[in-house]
Amino acid sequence: MKEKYNQIWELASPYLKAGVMKDFVLHTKGVISAMEIILQNEKGDEDILIPAAILHDTGWSKVPAHLQKSKESADKRYAMELHLEYAAPIISEILTKVNYAPNKENAN
Ligand SMILES: [Fe+2]
Repeated sequence: MKEKYNQIWELASPYLKAGVMKDFVLHTKGVISAMEIILQNEKGDEDILIPAAILHDTGWSKVPAHLQKSKESADKRYAMELHLEYAAPIISEILTKVNYAPNKENAN
């Protein structure tokens, strides 16, 4: 991962470590590596896709542990919804801290 993304990684790490369903640090490193391979072969804006890879599972940090570990399909579905809902403000806070361009999608 390029050094310019280190600050986002450092800010995301506590959230990734707080998830209990799986090792989100390990998982996210794998997603980042996969994204880097994709970016070598496909068109895409790495300044959007690498931060997205780093941040995509931060919302699990706020999902109650019993829902993350539940085997019930209704709980699993609810946990999936919650992690998306909780991710948005976490991601917004982190990207604000690193002065990420708010209109990045319009920059190209
Ligand atoms: Fe994931």
